[in-house]
Amino acid sequence: MSLLIKNGEIVTASSRYVADIWCEGETITRIDRDITPPPGATVIDATGKFVFPGFIDPHTHIYLPFMGTFSKDTYETGSQAALVGGTTTIFDMCCPSRADEPGAGFATWNAQSTGKSACDYSYHMGVTKFDAGTEAQLREIVAAGVSSFKIFLAYKGAFGISDEELWRTLKLAKQLGVIVAAHCENETLVSERQKELLAAGKTDPGQHHESRPPLVEAEGVHHLMTFAELTGAATYIVHLSCEQALQQALAARQRGVNVAVETLIQYLLLDKTFAERGGFDGAKFVMSPPLRDARNQSVLWHALKSGLIQTVATDHAPFDFARQKPMGQADFTKIPNGIPALEDRVNLLYTYGVRAGKLDLHTFVDVASTQAAKIFGLFPRKGTIQPGSDADLVVFDPDWRGTISAATQTMNVDYSAFEGWKLEGRPSVVTVRGEVAVRDGKFVGKVGRGQFLKRTPNHF
Ligand code: URP
Ligand code: ZN
Ligand code: ZN
Repeated sequence: MSLLIKNGEIVTASSRYVADIWCEGETITRIDRDITPPPGATVIDATGKFVFPGFIDPHTHIYLPFMGTFSKDTYETGSQAALVGGTTTIFDMCCPSRADEPGAGFATWNAQSTGKSACDYSYHMGVTKFDAGTEAQLREIVAAGVSSFKIFLAYKGAFGISDEELWRTLKLAKQLGVIVAAHCENETLVSERQKELLAAGKTDPGQHHESRPPLVEAEGVHHLMTFAELTGAATYIVHLSCEQALQQALAARQRGVNVAVETLIQYLLLDKTFAERGGFDGAKFVMSPPLRDARNQSVLWHALKSGLIQTVATDHAPFDFARQKPMGQADFTKIPNGIPALEDRVNLLYTYGVRAGKLDLHTFVDVASTQAAKIFGLFPRKGTIQPGSDADLVVFDPDWRGTISAATQTMNVDYSAFEGWKLEGRPSVVTVRGEVAVRDGKFVGKVGRGQFLKRTPNHF
C-alpha cells in the first residue's frame, strides 16, 4: 500500500509550503518536490489545494445513554460523518452512569466501537463516581491506553460527582499523570433555577439559558480551578461558552494552574436567540452549557486567535428533532441536551474563521488538530505532517462551494443546526493511515478500519 499526494500546499500549525507527500503503508515516509511514484502507487493530484493533517475532534458523544434516550449516531455512522468532514480522529466520552462500574463502562464503549469505526478514536474515561472500587479499575483503564479522565460538575443524579469525589479523582489523576477534562457548571444552581422557572410556568426551550446563565458556568470553572490548584492536577475545560467562564480559567492559569480550554464551533457561530425560536424549533439548539448572548462570540474568536483557548471541538451529541427532542415539549429540562456538528466543524471553522479573516491558516490547523494531539498525547503521530506521522491527510479544496443540509448530511440525525449555511471549501480527499476514506465528499473507506489509539500518561 503506497500513496503519493502531489503538488499540494502543505499547511501545518507552523509551516506552509508546496511539496509531494509519500506514504508507505500507514505512515508518511518522505516529503519532497517531484517525487516519482513507483508503478501501482495511488496518486492524488492536490494542485491548487491545501493539504492539512487529519483533523481531531477532542469531544464527541457517538454512544451516549443520556436523559432517558441514546445519542443517534453509532461508531459506524459517526465515524463516516467525521471523515466526510475531514476529522480522522475522535475522542469519545466514555460515560458510565453512576450505577455502573468504570470497568463495565469501558467494556460497553469497547463493544460499541471495536471493529465498527472507520476513523481512529480514543476515549476520555468518565469518572462518574468514586468509591472503594473505583481507583483499581481506573488504574487498569489507564494501563489499557486511556490517559485522560472526564468529570461532570453538572447533571445531578446522572453523571455529576460530589466534591469529595472530585478531590479523589484529581488526586489520582495527578498521581497517574492523567489529564482531567471537565464539564463545568454548578449543578445546585442549575437544579434550583430549573425548579423556580418551572414553578413559574416557564417551560419553553428558551428557558434553558435562564436556568444556566454564564455565572453558573463561571462558578463551575472557578470551583474546578480551586481543586486543580490544590491537587496540582492537569485540567482541560470542555465546551467553554462565555467570557465570564474564560476569565476564571485565565485567572487560574495566571496563578499557575495547568489548564487547557476547549470551545465549540456551536458557541463560535450560534447564539441564544436560536434556542428562543418559537414552535419548539428552539429545542434543536438546546445544549449545556447553553448557547450564549452573541457578544461572547468575539471574545471566543479573539481568545482562539491569541492562543488563550486551545481547541475547537463539537461535543457532538445528536438527538432527533422529530422523536427525541419532544421529550421536553412541556418541560425544557427534559429536552435531550446536544447539538450535532461532527461533520461540519472543520468546514464551518474554515469558512467562518479563516475565510472571514478571524483565524489564520496555521491557527486553524492548530486549534482543530495539533493542540488536541499535543494535549492528549498523540503528537506527532497525529496532528501534523512530517515523516513518521500517520498518513492521516486532508486534501482540502478551497474553491468548492456548497450549503449544509440535513437532507445530504452523513450524520445519523434528522436535522442540522446549520441548515442552509453556506460553505466555502471542503475536503476533497481524506486519508486514514495511508488509505483513502473520502473522495469528493463521499465516504469510500472501510468501516472497522479505525483503530483504538493507545495513549500513555504524562503527556502535558
Ligand atoms: O449538551 C450537551 N453538551 N450534551 C452532551 C453532554 C455534555 O454535557 O457534554
Ligand atoms: Zn458536557
Ligand atoms: Zn460532551
